[in-house]
Amino acid sequence: MHVIIINGSPRVQNLSNTDKIISRLVKGMKTEDKGLTTELYSISDRKQWEEARGAFNKNTEILIAIPLYVECIPGLLLEFLDTLEKKNGDTRISFVLQSGFAEASQLRCGEEYLKKLPGLLGCTYGGTLIKGDNFSYRFLGEEQTEKPLSAYEAMGASYIRNKGFDSDEARAFSGPEYFGAGMRIFLGIIFATAAPLGFKMMAKGLGCTKSLKDRPYL
Ligand SMILES: Cc1cc2nc3c(=O)[nH]c(=O)nc-3n(C[C@H](O)[C@H](O)[C@H](O)COP(=O)(O)O)c2cc1C
Repeated sequence: MHVIIINGSPRVQNLSNTDKIISRLVKGMKTEDKGLTTELYSISDRKQWEEARGAFNKNTEILIAIPLYVECIPGLLLEFLDTLEKKNGDTRISFVLQSGFAEASQLRCGEEYLKKLPGLLGCTYGGTLIKGDNFSYRFLGEEQTEKPLSAYEAMGASYIRNKGFDSDEARAFSGPEYFGAGMRIFLGIIFATAAPLGFKMMAKGLGCTKSLKDRPYL
């Protein structure tokens, strides 16, 4: 199989969590299809858009991997999708929709849009792999990210076996739809106490020199 993979994140490729997820999916795909070939395009780099459009037009197996940005699909990806021309029904588009918050319910609104999108582009829908809890990959070391990222390899293999993500395996991967009351209370305490300190340290690591409460435009 030859799969065109589009990373829909506006974040540059080497810092993108989506890129790390894609790498693991491809690794898993190759365990099921030894002859698999892929082409990867990153929407964050506008210089790749023309070639990505050409690959979309010429090929029939497309995977678009998307981070949730403000409860929605990133605007830059929408801008790219707007430039695509309608196809003739011979192409399947599958999606990965991943986010920072862990409950799958956060991603359902975006999923509803993705169910409609292939039809608007004259393509068929190959399902969406939904998964939260991906926020910290770019901040953590390889040792800490190995377990969650390696789980995507099984989903890559599943993508080949099931011809996309419209499968019970993919649906089970999403994890909890909503956290139970115990977890919600625990997270409430963490976000009121330890998390702000963690965010402060992350911001400092990214070069932030002002308080996170700073309001420069007021
Ligand atoms: C501007 C921005 C908005 C975001 N909005 C959400 C959101 O609404 N819900 C959520 O669960 N995660 C949100 N996230 C977290 C990202 O979905 C998550 O970190 C993702 O793994 C980023 O992938 P990327 O590095 O490939 O862009 C947001 C991140 C950014 C930077």
